[in-house]
Amino acid sequence: MFTLFPDAFGWFERQRHVANAIARGHRLGYVNYRDHTPLSAGQVDDMPFGGGAGMVLRVDVVEAALRARYGVDPASPAVDRRVIALTPSGRLLDDAFVDELAQEERLTLLSGRYEGFDQRVLDHFVSDELSIGRYVLAGGELAAMVVCDAVLRKLPGSLGHEHSVLEESFSQALEGAPEYPHYTRPAEYRGWDVPEVLLSGHHAKIREWRREQSRERAASARRPAASAQPRDTERTEGPLP
Ligand SMILES: C[S@@+](CC[C@H](N)C(=O)[O-])C[C@H]1O[C@@H](n2cnc3c(N)ncnc32)[C@H](O)[C@@H]1O
Repeated sequence: MFTLFPDAFGWFERQRHVANAIARGHRLGYVNYRDHTPLSAGQVDDMPFGGGAGMVLRVDVVEAALRARYGVDPASPAVDRRVIALTPSGRLLDDAFVDELAQEERLTLLSGRYEGFDQRVLDHFVSDELSIGRYVLAGGELAAMVVCDAVLRKLPGSLGHEHSVLEESFSQALEGAPEYPHYTRPAEYRGWDVPEVLLSGHHAKIREWRREQSRERAASARRPAASAQPRDTERTEGPLP
């Protein structure tokens, strides 16, 4: 992770599945652009040519950081990894993209700040641009954590139950559909009952019901948005516990 704020990842590394992945030998590393800037006083950004608000991360600063870490010209074919710039307008992260990234032995994520990167960073040092959604965050650190979180939980051993990664929203096992609903105890709460089939102990029927629910969710996600549904609390007469 190339970032101006490596400390931002402290909390992330303490999360169970991330800690598990690290304990199994996966490594997260951080490079602070500022530690390698060739400019004085730790400068990493500059005013945009042509004017306008905000500052732009300089191409020479990003190059110096990449060179310091990998020891090669980041614009050369010697770079042996995908170098991914986090940008709001990049390829949208989805489950297929996460699967693709989880196959890679090593990944580099470049976090931007301010107005983002000098375009020459994107044109010459980067293999992919990745967006976590069509909105703008103040910096790439949260986006980098989103990517790492999604990728790490696909790796063997990072979750307690391997099965949970195989059959979850958007997975191949569910034909790309959202996951089915889950319920736990109590079986009855304020008059809101758990579907009978889940209490039946009939595994084939449960599987069938879940698959059906998942397909219905996929179909309703494709339908144009209806007006917001009233919340359950507004629909029920049940007393509060
Ligand atoms: C304030 S944003 C720059 C926005 C840029 N001026 C634009 O309009 O596209 C600063 C940095 O946050 C990160 N960022 C913001 N939103 C993001 C998103 N939706 N997905 C991935 N990274 C994002 C990028 O690294 C970006 O360089």
